[in-house]
Amino acid sequence: MTAPEHATRPRRELARSSSATARAGLRRGAHKSSSGAACALGAEGEQGRGLRLLQAFAAVERFPALADARAELLAALAGESPATGELAAIVEGDAALAIALLREANRGRKQRERVDAIAPAVERLGAAALREMAQALPTFDLLQGGGVWGELPARFRLHALATQRAAEAIAAELGHRNRGRLAVASLLHDVGKLAMTLLHPSHAGRLWTREGDASAGIRGERAELGLDHALVGGVLAQRWSFPQVITHAIERHHDAGRQGEAAIVGLADMLVHHQREGGARADELVGAAEGLGLGLDRLRRVMREQAIARRRGGDGAERCPLTDKELLVLKRLAQGLVYKQIAECLGVSASVVRTHLHNVYAKLGVRDRAQAVLLADRRGWL
Ligand SMILES: [Fe+2]
Ligand SMILES: [Fe+2]
Repeated sequence: MTAPEHATRPRRELARSSSATARAGLRRGAHKSSSGAACALGAEGEQGRGLRLLQAFAAVERFPALADARAELLAALAGESPATGELAAIVEGDAALAIALLREANRGRKQRERVDAIAPAVERLGAAALREMAQALPTFDLLQGGGVWGELPARFRLHALATQRAAEAIAAELGHRNRGRLAVASLLHDVGKLAMTLLHPSHAGRLWTREGDASAGIRGERAELGLDHALVGGVLAQRWSFPQVITHAIERHHDAGRQGEAAIVGLADMLVHHQREGGARADELVGAAEGLGLGLDRLRRVMREQAIARRRGGDGAERCPLTDKELLVLKRLAQGLVYKQIAECLGVSASVVRTHLHNVYAKLGVRDRAQAVLLADRRGWL
């Protein structure tokens, strides 16, 4: 399958521009600074657009892991003989850990030697190198944010994990075999949005909020910003020596003619937006499902199972005690909306939102918004 020209041309230019800029940046020593990238990228300077792009890429390479996920990984590695499956399950649930591991496992490898899933990457790297890699990663937590990234890591994580779970459900319905590859592609499908947010902070709201269909969103990004997040994500994956199947899935997850993992990830993304965030049209969803050979009945089954899994919690162990309205308010809070915005979204008054939240805190036994979001996220209710 070949990429459409509208995708390959800017991708070639982007890759060329970033590599030329890399050489310029290396000469100036600018590549060393990624922690202050958000500030640097906010202002137009003499280094120009190419260097800002390179800085954004470097910053994404230092994207923080969830502190709890890294601690869990290090604790598992401290055991006598940690099982590959256990380690892989932890890494598969955190974008920064997954990026760092796949980069390390594929560094300097030819295309045919590259691994496309977490478990073989864990095997290849070994426990000592995995520990060293995890210890070197910056972290964020859901209560204190992620340094220059603010609340974005938490928001990115929610959507990435929700899409991963939806992709898994679609894969089960389809009998798709490459679950490990799909877990990576779905977790990282929107990684390009991170670089785009740094490059265009004033567009962050639009980048992370889905309104209308996906193709219109992508067209809007291209028209307004000259690039779209899928293309930028594909370039990042290529820079990180990810195998082509992962690069393509990330780059093409919004393409009209997508196939394979890109098509599953595209549908999973729509399901999440449709079910949880109300931003994907039903006809778009049905069309994407048909593209994968899923008729209405099978799509309904996937959606039903997703809804049941959400109510039961991520592992099916604990039922969510919140009403639909309370859960909706909490989801909007997790997306960074304030009371007034949530009230507008739901068509109710701010005092009604406050009452719902008061009930949420009481039912979950927490004191504030951050604790409520943290607890609900960890139980898979968001
Ligand atoms: Fe996307
Ligand atoms: Fe997405």
